[in-house]
Amino acid sequence: MELIRSISQMQEISASWKGSVGFVPTMGFLHQGHISLVQEAAKHHAILVVSIFVNPTQFGAGEDLDTYPTNLEHDLELLRREKVDYVYFPTKAEMYPADFKTWVNTEIITQILCGRTRPTHFRGVTTVLAKLLNIVRPDAMYMGEKDFQQLVVTRQMVRDLNFTTRVVGCPIVREADGLAMSSRNSYLSSQGRQDALCLSLAIARAEELTKSGVTDFKTIRSEMRKIILDHNGRIDYIELVDSTSLHHLDTVKAGCRLLLAAYIENTRLIDNTTL
Ligand code: PAJ
Repeated sequence: MELIRSISQMQEISASWKGSVGFVPTMGFLHQGHISLVQEAAKHHAILVVSIFVNPTQFGAGEDLDTYPTNLEHDLELLRREKVDYVYFPTKAEMYPADFKTWVNTEIITQILCGRTRPTHFRGVTTVLAKLLNIVRPDAMYMGEKDFQQLVVTRQMVRDLNFTTRVVGCPIVREADGLAMSSRNSYLSSQGRQDALCLSLAIARAEELTKSGVTDFKTIRSEMRKIILDHNGRIDYIELVDSTSLHHLDTVKAGCRLLLAAYIENTRLIDNTTL
């Protein structure tokens, strides 16, 4: 496994790939959710590239950029086990030099849901992913449905800007008790970790209601709200949307996605499911 820091070195390698390349972009502090993407990529590609970069431009003022967890040694150990070929670990100074001026901004679908409380977040995500795609030039990029809006926004960006990389969405990996794995779970106290279960419990309740024939979203949302408030959670949003356009829906139908964001203690967590 090769660790690459400079853009020119990565581009020199990517200019002449000899085989199909699967790419997994991450911000590090890896867990099985990240590793599941690497394992899926390994099924389809001869060459595996993982990037680790805590991208400053996707964090808003007052967010957790300065405290975002890192553990490079552990990350590299996990990636070595998966037989990753290249770990691209760029520096902030080279990715965003002082005279950096260009942004990739997908409109409308970045201002709803998570974009409401994080209005500049997706602009940072699409900008860094466009840069990474130009640097790594992969055949396919593997991303988690855990960040469902990010996946939809990325697909839109790739389509609009004619990147040739295929975007592959992979299922959410959960802890044994149901909590969706996230690097940010490490911020939770032991009480917070217990309370955080309300996200997956609320999702499970919505799935159960739908199975029993309930399609009215207001009814589903009010049941979910109760579960979250009972666990000391503060709701950011609970929304039912069309899974490709992200348009709001009032009733459960084919192709819909239920998305949820809530604060547990001071940590903002997200989860989602198809219904
Ligand atoms: P990060 O939060 O490190 O996540 C990297 C990738 O892992 C994303 O595609 C995310 O959806 C996926 N992932 C995280 N937790 C998961 C889980 N429990 N199950 C399945 N997949 C999971 O998302 C980012 O980094 C950044 O925004 C990035 C795309 C790297 C751009 O900076």
